[in-house]
Amino acid sequence: MERSYTPAVIWDRRRRVDDVKPAVPPVNSFAEVLEDAPVMALLIQTGSGVIDANDAARAFFEIDPARLPASLVEVTLEGRLVDVLAAAETYAEVNLVHHRRTVRCTLVPGPRPRQTLMFLADITELRHLATVRQEFVANLVHELKTPLTSLRLAAESLMGDPALADRKRFAARVVKEADLLTKIIDNLRQLGDIETKSMAVETTQFDLGELVRESVVRLGIDRPVNTDMPDALTITTDRPKLVQAFDNLLDNAAKFSPPGTPIDIHGEIAGSEIRLSVRDHGPGISPEHWSRVFERFYKVDRARPREAGGFGLGLAITKHLVQVLGGRIWTESARDGGQVFTIALPRNS
Ligand SMILES: Nc1ncnc2c1ncn2[C@@H]1O[C@H](COP(=O)(O)OP(=O)(O)OP(=O)(O)O)[C@@H](O)[C@H]1O
Ligand SMILES: [Mg+2]
Repeated sequence: MERSYTPAVIWDRRRRVDDVKPAVPPVNSFAEVLEDAPVMALLIQTGSGVIDANDAARAFFEIDPARLPASLVEVTLEGRLVDVLAAAETYAEVNLVHHRRTVRCTLVPGPRPRQTLMFLADITELRHLATVRQEFVANLVHELKTPLTSLRLAAESLMGDPALADRKRFAARVVKEADLLTKIIDNLRQLGDIETKSMAVETTQFDLGELVRESVVRLGIDRPVNTDMPDALTITTDRPKLVQAFDNLLDNAAKFSPPGTPIDIHGEIAGSEIRLSVRDHGPGISPEHWSRVFERFYKVDRARPREAGGFGLGLAITKHLVQVLGGRIWTESARDGGQVFTIALPRNS
C-alpha cells in the first residue's frame, strides 16, 4: 500500500476514494497537515495553471476554490511569481508588489507529471529584523568611532610628554571620552534588559508633583520651569522608571531649546490615564521625525556638535520604560512653537 504521506495524496484529499482502507486510519495524513500548514502551497499544472491551493494560500491570495483552475497571475496577481515559475527557479526570494510582502518561494516537482508545487513562506518580518539589526550595528560603529578616535589622539599627545597644563587637558579628555563610552554601554545594556523583559516592575504610590520638583533640581535646570498640575496628583507605578523616563524628556527640552527659554510641565488626569507632558520653547521637530525620534540612535540633526548632543538613545529608552509601565508616549508641536512630549500612564497600574 502506498504510504499516506507521499505527495501524491496531498491534493487528493477531497478526491480520495475510500477503496483503500489502511490498517491504521490516516488521521492527520500528510495531506491534512499541508492543508493547515503555516506555509502557503499552490499546485500548478502545466497548461491549466493553479489547480489547487491549501488553506494558507487561499486566505492570503483570497482564492475561491470554485474558480480553479486559473492562471497563476490570475490567482495571485503577482507577475514576479510567474517569472519564478517560468525560470523554474527552485528557490527565490520575491517582493510581492500587489500584496506588499516578501516571500520565500520554493518550487518542487508535483505529485503527477507536469505538475509543480509552489511553497510560499512570508518572511517580511524576518527581512525587516535583519535590516533593523544591520542599521543598529552601523549606528553603533558610528557612535563608538568618534570617542575612540578622540581617546587615541589624547593618549598619543600624552605620550609626547607635553607641558603640565596640556597633560592635564589631555588627561581630562581621556576621562571624558571614557565616560561617554561608558554611557553608551550603560544605555545599550538597559535597552537590552528592557527588550528581553528581564526588568522587574516595583510599584509604589507617590505624588507626581514631587517627582517633577526633584528632577528639576537634580538635572540643574537653570531656566524658568512652569509647573501646572493638580495639588495632589498621586500615581501608583514604578517610581525610578518614571523618573528616568521623565528626566530624559526634561534633559531634551533643556538641550534642544535656547538657554533662558522656559520649560512648561503639565500634569492631569484624563479618563483612566494620568498624563505628564514636557514642553519647551525651542525650534521643535518637524512632523516627519515624530515617530522616528523614538528609534535607537535616531537624531534629527546629525551634524549637531557632539558636545551638545547625546547618542540618540534617550527617547528609545524612555519609550520602552513607558511601555514597561503599561503606558504610551507621543510627541507633537506646541500651538505657539516648541515641542511637547507626553507620557500617559494608567491611573491604576
Ligand atoms: N525637545 C526637543 N526639541 C527638539 N528636538 C528634540 C527634542 N527632543 C528630542 N529631539 C530630537 O530627537 C533626537 C532623539 O532624542 P534622544 O533623547 O533619543 O537622543 P539625544 O538626546 O540626542 O541623546 P541621548 O538622549 O542618548 O543623550 C534628538 O537627537 C533630537 O534631534
Ligand atoms: Mg536625550
